[in-house]
This record gives sequence, structure tokens and C-alpha cells, in this order.
Amino acid sequence: MALLKEISSSVEDTYNIAKDFAKNLKINDVVSFFGNLGAGKTTFIKGLLEGLNYTSSEVNSPTFTYLNIYDTKINIFHFDVYRLKNSNNFLDMGFDEYFSMDGICLIEWADIIEDILPKKRYNITINHISDKKREISIEKNI
Ligand SMILES: Nc1ncnc2c1ncn2[C@@H]1O[C@H](COP(=O)(O)OP(=O)(O)OP(=O)(O)O)[C@@H](O)[C@H]1O
Ligand SMILES: [Mg+2]
Repeated sequence: MALLKEISSSVEDTYNIAKDFAKNLKINDVVSFFGNLGAGKTTFIKGLLEGLNYTSSEVNSPTFTYLNIYDTKINIFHFDVYRLKNSNNFLDMGFDEYFSMDGICLIEWADIIEDILPKKRYNITINHISDKKREISIEKNI
């Protein structure tokens, strides 16, 4: 189900869209992010965390660790699986256990592990339009 399709014209716009979206999130939700390098996945996640009253300066792509955990009212598990080859690598590290832990999973480069993502999830796709413009689509899969 499509929830939103909007053009963001600035980082501020993206933060605001993300903050609004954050209000929907509940424990055990999984949010997968699609979009090329520099599309704005991490930027969106910073806005989302700000919406959960978390200081976004601590939010960065967990490039060397795969996973960052932010201690908000609800635990946030922030994955960046860019450097994984496929979903087997993800399973080998036992990361799929996080899908059923008490918290919310945010996954950058979700297409790499799409075959093992829970069916019930949000998909957020960010397309680069120009220097400052991004098309942001949010859908909910049940
Ligand atoms: N409207 C916009 N929304 C989001 N980011 C924007 C926008 N306009 C410009 N930018 C810039 O685009 C870059 C987005 O980087 P970001 O790290 O969020 O991308 P990413 O999708 O997480 O990339 P990666 O795949 O490397 O993790 C930032 O430098 C940001 O300032
Ligand atoms: Mg990123």
C-alpha cells in the first residue's frame, strides 16, 4: 500500500518527511531502505531518529560494523548491509534475530537481503533527481 510519494527539495524537507513518518512506528516494525549511494537513506534515518527525540549527531551509517543500536524509548537497530554479498552473510551473523527483538529495524541497502526480509514491513525508496531534489516513496507491505 502506497503511503506517500513526495519530492524533497532539501535535507530539511527529508528530515521533516522522516519525522512525520516516525510517528507511525511501533515496536517490531521493520523499515527497509532502497536507493543508490548518496540518495539520502542515512539522512532520512537521522530525521527519523530526531522524530524519536534522539540526537541525530550520533546517527551514522554503520559501515564498518553493519549495525548501530540507538537507545531511544524503543531500541533502534540501524543496519547498513552494503558490504554484504547476500542474505546468507546476514543470516550467518545471526542478524535476522533482530527482526523479532523488541525494537525497530532500519535497513539500508535492503535489496541485498530482500529474500529474507519479513513480509510485513515498510519500504522506503529514495531516488536522486538532482543536486538537492529527491523523490521519496513510502509503502507498507502487510
Ligand atoms: N533533499 C535531500 N534529501 C536528502 N539528502 C540530500 C538532499 N539534498 C542533498 N542531500 C545530500 O545527499 C547526501 C545523502 O547522503 P546519505 O549519507 O544520506 O545517503 P545514503 O543513501 O545513506 O548513502 P550510502 O548508500 O552511502 O549510505 C548528503 O550529503 C545530503 O546532504
Ligand atoms: Mg547511508
